[in-house]
Amino acid sequence: MRDVYLGIDLGTSAVKALAVRSDGSIAGEASESCAVSYPGIGMCEQSPADWIAAASRAVRSLGLGKGCVRGIATGGQMHGSVLLDGRGEVVRPCVLWNDGRAREETEYLNNAVGKDALVRMTGNVAFAGFTAPKLMWIKKHEPEAFARVRTIMLPKDYAVYALTGVMSTDLSDASGTLLFDTARGAWSEEMCRICSVGADMLPEARRSQEIVGYLSDGGAALLGLDSGIPVCAGAGDNAAAAIGTGTTGAGSCNISLGTSGTVFVCTDGYVPGGDTLHSFRHADGGYHLMGCMLSAASCNKWWTEDVCRTGYETAQSEMPEPGSAGVIFLPHLTGERSPHNDTDARSMFVGMRPHTTRGDMGLAVLEGVAFGLRGMLEAAGTEIKHTRICGGGARSGLWRRVTASVLRTAVETTATENGPAFGAALLAMTGCGEYGSVAEACASCVRAGGVTLPEAELADRYDEIYAVYKDIYPAMKRVFRDMRGI
Ligand code: XUL
Repeated sequence: MRDVYLGIDLGTSAVKALAVRSDGSIAGEASESCAVSYPGIGMCEQSPADWIAAASRAVRSLGLGKGCVRGIATGGQMHGSVLLDGRGEVVRPCVLWNDGRAREETEYLNNAVGKDALVRMTGNVAFAGFTAPKLMWIKKHEPEAFARVRTIMLPKDYAVYALTGVMSTDLSDASGTLLFDTARGAWSEEMCRICSVGADMLPEARRSQEIVGYLSDGGAALLGLDSGIPVCAGAGDNAAAAIGTGTTGAGSCNISLGTSGTVFVCTDGYVPGGDTLHSFRHADGGYHLMGCMLSAASCNKWWTEDVCRTGYETAQSEMPEPGSAGVIFLPHLTGERSPHNDTDARSMFVGMRPHTTRGDMGLAVLEGVAFGLRGMLEAAGTEIKHTRICGGGARSGLWRRVTASVLRTAVETTATENGPAFGAALLAMTGCGEYGSVAEACASCVRAGGVTLPEAELADRYDEIYAVYKDIYPAMKRVFRDMRGI
């Protein structure tokens, strides 16, 4: 294998490594799973050392050999708190993007500091999974650990550090910390003060394609490659996934049906975020708005694998025609970010009757996630006629069909559905001079797949069901609050 670029994606369920030739064709791919630990109700953590071990196994299994990798970039789950001490050692496990422990800190930021002030300083309001409220929680509950922290970085930045010894981050991932001023593209000193974070604890935020370091001897030993290979800053996984589906330029949209479900809309310049949508920098040099539901393909996995133990194929064969499940599913398995910003929110099936089957409920899960996406797209306020779609859930033709009609939008896959790792490889190509810009890399390497169009009758049916779906969460909000601790 010669002359490839390596994209490494630190996902929540697995680390993926992808070797891509400069024309966008895939030379090799590997994935190694990563365990998540749940140390308390609503808490999700991972050990940074596990990501590095998984990345090492994944890249080694590609069998790339010496002299063939021209550049490396990483993508990774956003918002995670990787905390290093003065010797560069990890202080405590990383608190993940879907962890809900920082509820009180989030309420304090949104109510006492105030949403308007937060948006002025950072472009965003607070959500429990964002880095800043989690740091406040750690300071309060683990003061000794917090006192040892000298550097704060995001998951993919830790991989860059392990590979090069350089501490860095990029603009897209920095935007998700709530310590960063998205509009200005710089750390917010005011927010850092509010959160007791020293400005010297945060690495410089670089452009995603920028070369930040070179594979060290230790990094080379980890990956089984030669030292000196350029390593780029990389991007948060949603920005990297958007690059991987060619989602660049104002008005373009990408939907990701992964563990989380995201709607990613590129904007014409900076637009402030709010209660539903986040305002972040994109890895193409622009800006975007993004909604994130915490459980998407994970709802389907939970239902088909953990509960029914059938697997998706069997579950799908039992499902009725889209629109005729007769039950509605609320997809808030791990609380909810967009559109409710409520760590107490829970999942539920509504409307079961004696004839309701496992298949009806399985279809309702797919539909409920699509309704969640619709809520986020509606908040974006712009009419989207066409979107790219990626992530594990996008491989299901049935789910794409449901999604297209629920959203009344054409959804299009790409020929190589390889998510953030593919986008990261395109960033590495750009950083190493293969292409003049990220957009140019996308234009040359991303190929369209199939388009699924909305069906008029089904879309009408989904309008009716969605009107009911929208009433369920507000009606249940107090009950979910009362269920705290149950
Ligand atoms: C985005 C978010 C998730 C994670 C998943 O804001 O929290 O999509 O990035 O890896």
